[in-house]
Amino acid sequence: MRHSFLIACSLALLFTTSGVAGTSNSLMDISADGELLACSNRDSGTVTVVDLKSHTKLREFRVGQKPEGVTFIGSTTNLAVAVYAEDKVVVFNATNGGRLAEIDVFDEPYGVVSDSRGERLFVTLDYPGRVVEIDAGNFELVREADVGRFIRGVALSEKTSRLLVTEYYSAKVKAVSLDSLKVVDEWKGSSSDNLARQITFNPKREKAYLPNIRSSITTIHGTGSIFPYLSIIDTAPAEGKRRKRIPVDSVFSSLVTANPWEVAVSPNARELYMVFAGTNDMFACEVVDDDYREIKSRRRLDLGANPRAVRVAPDGKRLYVYNALDFNVVAYDTKTLRRVADIAVTENPLGAEVLEGKRLFYSALQPMVGRRWISCSSCHPDGQADGRTWHNPEGLRNTQSFAGMAWTHPIHWSADRDEVQDFEHTIRGPLMQGRGLIRGRVQEQLGPKNKGLSKQLDALAAYSNSHKFALSPYAKQGLSDAAKRGRELFRSDRTQCAKCHQGPFLTDSRSRPANEIIRHDVGTGDDESEKMGPAYDTPTLLGVYRTAPYLHHGKAETLADVLTSQNKDDKHGATSHLSPEQINDIVEYLKALPYEDPVVAAKAAGLTPER
Ligand code: HEC
Ligand code: HEC
Repeated sequence: MRHSFLIACSLALLFTTSGVAGTSNSLMDISADGELLACSNRDSGTVTVVDLKSHTKLREFRVGQKPEGVTFIGSTTNLAVAVYAEDKVVVFNATNGGRLAEIDVFDEPYGVVSDSRGERLFVTLDYPGRVVEIDAGNFELVREADVGRFIRGVALSEKTSRLLVTEYYSAKVKAVSLDSLKVVDEWKGSSSDNLARQITFNPKREKAYLPNIRSSITTIHGTGSIFPYLSIIDTAPAEGKRRKRIPVDSVFSSLVTANPWEVAVSPNARELYMVFAGTNDMFACEVVDDDYREIKSRRRLDLGANPRAVRVAPDGKRLYVYNALDFNVVAYDTKTLRRVADIAVTENPLGAEVLEGKRLFYSALQPMVGRRWISCSSCHPDGQADGRTWHNPEGLRNTQSFAGMAWTHPIHWSADRDEVQDFEHTIRGPLMQGRGLIRGRVQEQLGPKNKGLSKQLDALAAYSNSHKFALSPYAKQGLSDAAKRGRELFRSDRTQCAKCHQGPFLTDSRSRPANEIIRHDVGTGDDESEKMGPAYDTPTLLGVYRTAPYLHHGKAETLADVLTSQNKDDKHGATSHLSPEQINDIVEYLKALPYEDPVVAAKAAGLTPER
């Protein structure tokens, strides 16, 4: 009796210090005793708890819109989940669902990790790029600090008392000291590195792994725009700042994969698993104790739709993959890599059409894509921007966010497309080289309707148009005095802003009642590469607080730049007479948009969304 108690204790110690469960953020976590698995279901707004002995779903708990990272707290069965779209961290008991706390944060919590004693939680805020520390005893927010731009991935090293975090749009890794909550070390990537969501420690060696892509903005071609990478950093301070990048297509006999999402390393540090959310497959690799080779491929496995997470059980025997668009978790035996269980974790909450569209949007396979490198989501991840300005054939084009797009047609900066179904041209073009979704030939002109020609293409449009506006975090307490002054200036006859940025969505894209497309020359179309300007569609300003850089060419780094250095001749509203304080007031107003749901006003005005 006493003997088995001792064994249980030392096993528990082994598991909690093994560095596997809970030390790096993921959509999936396994309890320290290896008995429970929790996964966060972004589309359903729930967390599901699975019993790993029987491989059955125990319960599914509603937590709020777009949950991302989830973690068990220390060796308990309490869970903390970052609820991205509701700006809160929810803590609850995994066995009975009892709510322990809801902790409000500023905006967009993405990653969450717990220390092994269950005393502290660390949360990353994608926007505004912050780390938050929460006391897991009383669930109070203890400290927070801005540590970069768009911080997502997070891993905790208790040994060195540091967090490693990743910048989403630069794949930069930063070490944050737990003593000061300040950045104490940094591993830069290449300027084209992009979309680094997760970072994972090697439990035995001084290494951490982050999957990312490279966005090569000067190449609009299916085999040159987007590349998958595994970045490996040496974490030991003594070893300097070595960072190595493995092009993923070099790992497995030149096989191309797209959208690497997460890496897991086995507790004995011998195996590494990497899932690809675009080609729906996984590489199982051996970790090689050699700083130049790092990994050696073992097997490639086909997975389900859009795998976003992979975790290994504390005993190393099982491997779990979360297929986000099959809504399941699949268990594999790590020795044989055979599938041992398939656990449905949530119902499809999207409806059949949007789900079909979303699967197409994330797919780097036919009929969408010919060469496997890229998918729509490589540049529009979860409908957000990729932070890039692409050198398109028509000129420089900054990637827009899809938030509220159903209400802001026509689309593209030049308003050259009137429906998402026109992206059949992108699918078949040099960028994606897919077979396409319409049977037979496509009409050359963008004007005539493609809607109704293909169920799949209509589904792609339905998904693309499903992204909602998010309220600005700067307006949670209503408009500040500065923002109110800015609103007056914005609406004034002198500045003219509201002449073009009008109506519930602050755009005048269509004339009423004639319904013709309107474009304006605001003095921004003089780049030598420009083929379509100088007049552009008036963009909505709702959500601009998080979408820098600005303007179609991305040359305005800040909102103030739009009104100053990029508006020297007062062609984009009159701003030259404004004092720096007044410019600041307008910026404060822009940052607070939207401060109320624009759809309510739109419906009252009789407007209808596109599908
Ligand atoms: C290589 C990166 C890349 C890929 C891949 C890509 N896009 Fe885009 N997308 C862009 C850029 C850049 C823009 C802005 C272009 C413009 O306005 O002219 C854009 C604009 C859009 C817009 C207009 C948004 C708005 O608010 O006006 C839609 C819709 C869109 N893309 C859908 C898609 C779909 C669907 C796919 C896949 C078939 C896709 N994109 C693939 C980069 C990409
Ligand atoms: C004549 C119509 C017009 C007026 C007046 C106007 N805008 Fe614009 N606005 C546009 C157009 C068109 C664009 C897109 C230009 C481009 O991308 O090159 C734009 C772009 C912007 C952007 C960048 C949005 C983004 O997502 O990158 C901001 C911010 C903005 N306007 C704010 C203002 C403010 C503030 C004023 C008043 C000082 C103003 N605008 C006046 C038409 C107008």
